[in-house]
Amino acid sequence: MAYYRQVGEIPRKRHTQFRTPEGGLYAEELMGVEGFSADSALLYHRHLPTAIVDAVTVEDTRGATSPNLPLKPRHFRTPALTWDSDGVDAVTGRRTLFGNADVTIGFVVATAPSPLYRNAAGDELLYVQSGEGVVETIYGALPVGEGDYVVLPTSCTYRVVPERPMSVLVLEATGHIGPPRRYLSAKGQFLEHSPYCERDIRGPVEPLLVDGEDVDVLVRHRAGLTRFTYANHPFDVVGWDGCLYPWVFNIRDFEPITGRVHQPPPVHQTFEGPNFVVCSFCPRKVDYHPLAIPVPYNHANVDSDELMFYVGGDYEARKGSGIGIGSLSLHPSGCTHGPQPGAVEASLGAEAFDETAVMVDTFRPLELGEAALACEDPKYAWSWARRGPDLG
Ligand SMILES: [Fe+2]
Repeated sequence: MAYYRQVGEIPRKRHTQFRTPEGGLYAEELMGVEGFSADSALLYHRHLPTAIVDAVTVEDTRGATSPNLPLKPRHFRTPALTWDSDGVDAVTGRRTLFGNADVTIGFVVATAPSPLYRNAAGDELLYVQSGEGVVETIYGALPVGEGDYVVLPTSCTYRVVPERPMSVLVLEATGHIGPPRRYLSAKGQFLEHSPYCERDIRGPVEPLLVDGEDVDVLVRHRAGLTRFTYANHPFDVVGWDGCLYPWVFNIRDFEPITGRVHQPPPVHQTFEGPNFVVCSFCPRKVDYHPLAIPVPYNHANVDSDELMFYVGGDYEARKGSGIGIGSLSLHPSGCTHGPQPGAVEASLGAEAFDETAVMVDTFRPLELGEAALACEDPKYAWSWARRGPDLG
């Protein structure tokens, strides 16, 4: 996120003495990506950010994924997933829906505060389908609610505190997630043709300071999970500046790009990650050529698996398929998909679509996780022909 921000107190010159009211020195930390050759933030801690007093291996229980076999379009119903009534948190409670070498996609209905956590293997993107709460980070707190995308940079220590149960789609990347490069100037400013810009982005506005000793932080890293115990609470940053920090963008602030005839999927792109993109399908006026067909043409997504998460309204192209709010459709590479029978005719003359969906297109095949297998609707693949093995 190449958009400079400054929060709290910092010294006028970087890498110079910055003293506490008691006369001691604040501990400076440079958080820099790509080997300190790209975006960075400079943070000032009350305590040494290096001071750990213990490290233990934590078992990773989320299990392996399995290939999409037989290859077919699939439909999953997240509302059918069940959750522990004793409380579930947005970190340890996430269940794996899909995964490949580039991204793990999970889902959680969080009702309890999470442990302090950071993902050292890549950026995370949380999409809050419903509910509200606070994402507390070393950079400050981010109040979040329905429709918020939360971008958490690699190694940003955070926790999620729900105020109302939060249904969250979680993307764990193995690299960095940001706005599509084609929407940014050479210096990182959003360009005029971008569907969103700096004014739509929310970041931390003030330091979040918490006292405490011997504080646990769960860390996901490339080899698994480790729990560190820090001598002092990691939320001890009195100020920071730079272009690397957690930020929030609400899907309702995405300004759809429309045309006289049907616009291709990339107009909906909102983020890019390593070998995947994220798109937002938002309520919009639809194609206005007098003979336009507003729903999509049948399409073969040749180089990507297409995952669609239906979060609001009524998705016109999928009418009659069984898909509803909270559904996920997976249209893998190797299949052609398109509107359900009757949807093309039904869409003729439509002026607007009231639909909200989040799409993730991955350039490597997605495998299926335990949560996907637990909520699959086996009939979906046959919904275009209206006959097949599970239809009776
Ligand atoms: Fe599609």
